[in-house]
Amino acid sequence: MTDLRTEIAALVHDVPDHPRPGVTFKDITPVLADAAAFARVVDHMVQAAPGPVDVVVGMEARGFILGAPVAVALGAGFVPVRKEGKLPRATLSGSYDLEYGSAVLEVHPDTVPDGARVLVVDDVLATGGTAAATVELLEQAGGQVVGLSFLMELDFLHGRSRLEGRDVQALLRY
Ligand code: PRP
Repeated sequence: MTDLRTEIAALVHDVPDHPRPGVTFKDITPVLADAAAFARVVDHMVQAAPGPVDVVVGMEARGFILGAPVAVALGAGFVPVRKEGKLPRATLSGSYDLEYGSAVLEVHPDTVPDGARVLVVDDVLATGGTAAATVELLEQAGGQVVGLSFLMELDFLHGRSRLEGRDVQALLRY
């Protein structure tokens, strides 16, 4: 596990002053581009899943990249949570706060069977706004969120405090 953390952390690329001055962006594209590293991250998320999972939910866009292979490996379905206006049929929507303003996430509720055990997967847990809004949407849709799994968590943004009582896992913590 420590070896895995060291291997993956070494591939995460710090980009200073992106997307704006003073912010260091953690770029995971080198992790995804490395076949062995990508497979090990997916395998780690699969092994860390809290019991049986019926549905994996990934949030647009980077949550799709990790969530889909985790779903296949778990024998679960995949449900995308998308930004406003992208899903073609009837949706449930939830808004969440951004630093400036707010944004809306949507899901097709009929893709979440009643009582389904749902694992939420995303690349980064930062302020927790995206994850908290996703949990609310999924539970409104009738799912039971059994856990959330992230490649990395930015501890200093305290996203975990918005997910109190949830099973929250992160491979890397900064
Ligand atoms: C990023 C990231 C998470 C979210 C985390 O997505 O992929 O989904 O922000 O931030 P939070 O915990 O403060 O809500 P972003 O909205 O930038 O979308 P993208 O994946 O399409 O770039």
